[in-house]
Amino acid sequence: MTGAAKGIIAILLVAVGVLAFMLWRGQPATEPVGGSNPLDQREALLLNPEQHHHILEEMRGLLTAVALIQQARTSDDWAAIAEAAKGQGTKRGQIPPAGMRQAQPPAFRQMGQGMRGQFDAMADAAEAKNGEAVDTALTAALGACMGCHETYRVQLAR
Ligand code: HEC
Repeated sequence: MTGAAKGIIAILLVAVGVLAFMLWRGQPATEPVGGSNPLDQREALLLNPEQHHHILEEMRGLLTAVALIQQARTSDDWAAIAEAAKGQGTKRGQIPPAGMRQAQPPAFRQMGQGMRGQFDAMADAAEAKNGEAVDTALTAALGACMGCHETYRVQLAR
């Protein structure tokens, strides 16, 4: 083999190596486990089992709180409204599982934070015995539920 041929082979080998490295780096850190329904075109949040369980548990808590608030509003039980709303507000003091923040796209996080702010407003309104302001904040929070559910779904990742 001539020196020139050896040189070309060496350059090719390096190029293949660089390509392989780029492909490997391009792989997402997490991959979906199992398939998803192709009819569901929403953006997937890839979560580990702990994060997946946590987010759905939080969701069920939100639905319960909304039901409690609506129920309490029929008798204007301000203390019950304030308590349920505070439990879903920005100062609810719960610690998310590791990596939860990084797993959420910025727009998802913003929607979540906006909704938590509406629960703060609901609690303040209940403490001020202002039913109309409670309703306004509840309506805004429900708007955030709908907006987010239209856009995102969750999926287990490895
Ligand atoms: C920032 C995004 C976001 C907001 C805001 C949000 N959700 Fe969700 N919620 C989700 C996602 C994502 C899922 C999973 C949907 C899927 O994978 O099909 C979900 C699922 C749920 C579920 C199903 C839980 C289960 O165990 O399967 C309930 C109930 C729910 N949400 C209630 C609510 C209510 C009530 C609100 C508003 C008060 C709300 N969510 C606001 C993102 C959000």
